[in-house]
Amino acid sequence: MKSLFTNIMKGFEGYAIGKILKYLNDPGIISFAGGLPSSDVFPLDLIQKAAVKSLKEDWDRVLQYTPIPGEKELMQSIIEYLKKDNIHIEPENIMITTSGQHGLDLVGRLFLEPRDIIVIDLPTFGGALAAFEMEDAEYIAKDIEEDGSDVKGMETEIENFITKGKKPKFIYVVPDFQNPSGITISLEKRLALLSLSKKYGIPLVEDSPYRELRYRGSHLPSIYSLDKNQGNVIGIYTFSKILCPGIRVGFNIGPHEVIKKFSFIKGANILNTPKLNQDICTAFLREYDLDAHFKRSIEYYSEKLNFFLGAIEENFPEDMGVEWTNPEGGLFLWIALPEEINTSELFYKAIEEKVAFVPGDVFYPKGFRRYNTMRINFSYPTKEQIVEGVRRLSSVLKKYKAKKKK
Ligand SMILES: Cc1ncc(COP(=O)(O)O)c(C=O)c1O
Repeated sequence: MKSLFTNIMKGFEGYAIGKILKYLNDPGIISFAGGLPSSDVFPLDLIQKAAVKSLKEDWDRVLQYTPIPGEKELMQSIIEYLKKDNIHIEPENIMITTSGQHGLDLVGRLFLEPRDIIVIDLPTFGGALAAFEMEDAEYIAKDIEEDGSDVKGMETEIENFITKGKKPKFIYVVPDFQNPSGITISLEKRLALLSLSKKYGIPLVEDSPYRELRYRGSHLPSIYSLDKNQGNVIGIYTFSKILCPGIRVGFNIGPHEVIKKFSFIKGANILNTPKLNQDICTAFLREYDLDAHFKRSIEYYSEKLNFFLGAIEENFPEDMGVEWTNPEGGLFLWIALPEEINTSELFYKAIEEKVAFVPGDVFYPKGFRRYNTMRINFSYPTKEQIVEGVRRLSSVLKKYKAKKKK
């Protein structure tokens, strides 16, 4: 049957992280691989109560098909919630998605013809690359700098492509504590990205799953809010990292003409997002003490981050040539190893020693791959696992280097 598959699907090998996860079934493995928020901060009580209430009081609607764009109560609660982030939108500017990954898929489907160009940071979120690869995307991809996107480099390439008659379809960024690098885009560069978007008429897709999880430094305005509803930005949000990933609820915001089309596409692919899950999110936004919840999550994660950084410092002395980011928030840090280290190879050695990470190459599109980096998730493992896991990681690296030298 394979010969009948579309050309894109013949070459498509799935989401690279998904393939890694199958190696992690052994409970002895200490994993720094998944992008998992910690179940220690899930508001289980609230979720249980909201689910029971919804099934009791609204069971007939919960068990039925519901509107494609989402439940009115949830959309209204989100509109209120976004006001504190200086985002002021109307119901026509929002659609509920079945999580952030779905939100990205909709963007790809709406804008991309095969071999259309997207402007991205290098590295960038692998799930976004997977969604866009399904549309056979090509890239203007520039190395991310300490303060975010290389906006000047992007502009030069955009101009080159426009001269060749190929205008990029959108710019994709994760401004807050980017997955995978942990880097935050500075205010100056947020404004520069917005100017770039306006100057060339290329929409900016702002993916914001980690925005609430800031552990230090000051809060920066979202690019969506900086645009002041002028219609240049599409926001992708999810409840996965602020509530829990299992309920699979998120939302996209943007100009009405875009949201309307998203909803047509959603009708043709998944139809509605389960109402039960949406009701849980509504209860989270309306009934829960969000400030206390975020405070708790921030304290919990920042302690883990500091602990992790301490463990790396201890186990990776300077002469090992290892560098790492020190993120201001989010769930990830990014480790760069000497050029000669291939982390895709190292991954299998690490599995033998029962420790796992995500090899960095999955965060680079085809044609731009780099092999000497790794993504570390510090939020899920316990402190004991962090101590032991980082020790194992350092020992694997030393052995690998020694073998390479022979
Ligand atoms: C930057 C980014 N965007 C989108 C997503 C997808 O989120 P979800 O789990 O809600 O599909 C993730 C998940 O890790 C992410 O890191």
